[in-house]
Amino acid sequence: MSVPERTAAPATETIPLAQPVLGSEGEQAVIEVLRSGQLSLGPRVSAFEQAFAARLGVPHASAVSSGTAGLHLALRAVGVEDGDEVVTSPFSFVATANAVLFERARPVFADIDPVTLNLDPQAAAAAVTERTKALLPVHIFGHPADLPAFERMGLPLVEDACQALGAVHADGTPVGGRGHPSVFGFYANKQLTTGEGGLIALADPALKERIDSERNQGRAPDMGWLDHDRLGFNYRLSDIACAIGIEQLKRLDGMLADRARVAGWYREALDGIEDLTLPCPEQGGNVRGWFVFVVQLPHGVDRDLTVRALGERGIQSKPYLPAIHLMSFYRERFGYREGEFPVCEDVAARSIALPFFPAMREGQVARVAAELRTVLARP
Ligand SMILES: Cc1ncc(COP(=O)(O)O)c(C=O)c1O
Repeated sequence: MSVPERTAAPATETIPLAQPVLGSEGEQAVIEVLRSGQLSLGPRVSAFEQAFAARLGVPHASAVSSGTAGLHLALRAVGVEDGDEVVTSPFSFVATANAVLFERARPVFADIDPVTLNLDPQAAAAAVTERTKALLPVHIFGHPADLPAFERMGLPLVEDACQALGAVHADGTPVGGRGHPSVFGFYANKQLTTGEGGLIALADPALKERIDSERNQGRAPDMGWLDHDRLGFNYRLSDIACAIGIEQLKRLDGMLADRARVAGWYREALDGIEDLTLPCPEQGGNVRGWFVFVVQLPHGVDRDLTVRALGERGIQSKPYLPAIHLMSFYRERFGYREGEFPVCEDVAARSIALPFFPAMREGQVARVAAELRTVLARP
């Protein structure tokens, strides 16, 4: 029996947090790479990079093994070194700040905008010192950060766009398309996945050259197999992964539209739940690249109990995201305490990610919403 679209999905079905979409075209592309015998450092890498760069309208892209690796190489490329400071958001995945630490530089946090949840440009400006080498705004949950405001600050910029493929700035530029090194991530829950993977989009050919060498143990393209003229890493992305990426890119618009549709269903289904904060509507002409559907629970609601109660009803959810500066490692290393970034801390304490993936059906969204309504209505 088919489930009518607006009817809640059966209560026996567990609704997962995320589910990747891989079409059969991807299988064929992977088989072709396997048969070609060139599994790495082959032609799929530059084909993927060129297709990705063309989509964003930037001259260059460098495929790397993860978003974290991309952040590391991008920060090195703009000159971040031992002892420098990088101003960034405490409301991000921990990799954003960790990548700064890889270079023995210091992540300096500034509070976020309460509406978009992105790094607040005014707070960031106040955190700049003579040691600040770069700014690292994050397009959190796929909502474009205020890049024009950061650009006016005149410092080198690296964009953490790991959650923001498909997002568009108010002036029509795709997120990642402004020319600063902009880092994307392709882990399995992302808008486009290669299983694991990442990519840096950028305009400057000299930075591209440095990044390409450093992802490959410090070898220039014209150098021999075991010749290396600088420190490098193994941050390469395989041809197998790039072949998947090429196929995913071809269907990206459809997958983004599916995500946006699911988000629209959530908005309707969750309407009217008192004091529940939904993801902000797109601000000032910016377009979100939908990645997750994160809601902020009303003040005073026990989040752990809510997540557990949803789980008992077959709905996966999780606290998302914790504030980076309050993680034990950051507290111990830098002495951070509660109260330093109040907007971030308030949002981080109340946020949960609900199931969200392109193939999600309206009935599943209805069931998540109904269960959340029931759980929140309990005394
Ligand atoms: C904002 C942000 N930055 C960086 C990363 C790191 O990407 P990866 O897991 O591919 O290393 C992620 C991954 O989820 C992320 O969401």
